[in-house]
Amino acid sequence: MTQPPASRDDARGASATFRAVLPPVHRAATVLFDDVDAMRRHDWRSREAFVYGREGTPTTRELEKQLAETEGARHALVLPSGLAGYSVVALALLQPGELIAMPVNGYGGGGQMADVLLRRLGIEVSVYEPTQPDTWAENIPAGTRLVWIEAPGSITMEVPDLTRLVAHARSVGAHVAIDNTYSAGLHLKPFDLGIDVSLQALTKFQSGASDVTLGSLSCVNEGLLTRLHETRHFLGMGVSADDAYLVLRGLPTMWLRYEQSARSGEQLAAWFRGRPGVQRVLHPAFEECPGHAHWKAHFTAAAGLFSVTLHESVDEARVKAFVEGLRHFPLGMSWGGHSSLALPYAATHNAAQRLRRLGEPVGAIIRFWVGLEPVEALLEDIAQAWGAAMNR
Ligand SMILES: Cc1ncc(COP(=O)(O)O)c(C=O)c1O
Repeated sequence: MTQPPASRDDARGASATFRAVLPPVHRAATVLFDDVDAMRRHDWRSREAFVYGREGTPTTRELEKQLAETEGARHALVLPSGLAGYSVVALALLQPGELIAMPVNGYGGGGQMADVLLRRLGIEVSVYEPTQPDTWAENIPAGTRLVWIEAPGSITMEVPDLTRLVAHARSVGAHVAIDNTYSAGLHLKPFDLGIDVSLQALTKFQSGASDVTLGSLSCVNEGLLTRLHETRHFLGMGVSADDAYLVLRGLPTMWLRYEQSARSGEQLAAWFRGRPGVQRVLHPAFEECPGHAHWKAHFTAAAGLFSVTLHESVDEARVKAFVEGLRHFPLGMSWGGHSSLALPYAATHNAAQRLRRLGEPVGAIIRFWVGLEPVEALLEDIAQAWGAAMNR
């Protein structure tokens, strides 16, 4: 038996008498038009009209609206991942022969994208040290077209002097983009600092459940938005309404999850302070973390994300034993979800090598994401795994 063909006027599931707390999920590739004239007028460049599912649905547009509001932007564009944000900004703003400056302590995926994809396209890539303003003239020279900032650094957690860095980037004529994932857009307002574009890996705090990858770019400038929007279109990047919904569901509780995780994170980070084998606790809210004063000046909270650098004498076997001995910190990428995570970086990792270059005698680094489990259980877990690993 075959299904009778749908008539043009079949109900599409809408109801004027039904309302729910969260917005509905509008799945669509095809978007229907009322008549031929309306169809002929359709233009993907319109950010208000609905023309094709890839260009946006009421669900993805609602998410964009809420994200822009959170970050104090005029507009936001959703993307299939946080990493996509790095590519879209670069391809929107750079031409062959132009220079992009990437922070040495930034998200590794963004740095690799520049190093491989952008170089292949003939774009020049410079890597700068955010903690050393006296090196910026050399590594963010006059004519630089785009400067990426990340605050705090992805593994090493230092916050640069944002005011000075933005002023330097502006003075050389560069656009400035920030990976603002750490603050979730709640605790650092990039547009107040004169930053042009803000990236969120919605994969982290906004979703809150480690079950979706999405990203967003937000900005206040209309011309810039048009460039980003058309680049997203030409790269064929769409976001499914189901994925957008998962983030919409997470947003109302994000501030509360952020607060809880921040509180537990500070307690856990404090546990490591002064412990034999620990070189330094890299938590932006702690005075011993490089850039603490800048964090204090610009952020209204720290996230439950921190790193611990270990003495060179703590060998790889003990690092592995510690991380594998944790019961409540499974091993895995990402952060921002309800489950805590621990991620070890070997003494040979770039981040550890860089810290040694900066004069810090570090071996391995362990980054902790602190989720929503009872903090007593997490503290107990760390203590048992640390004791067993260090007394081997
Ligand atoms: C700071 C930061 N920015 C961007 C990303 C990339 O996000 P996604 O995994 O959604 O591509 C990550 C992911 O780990 C990240 O930690």
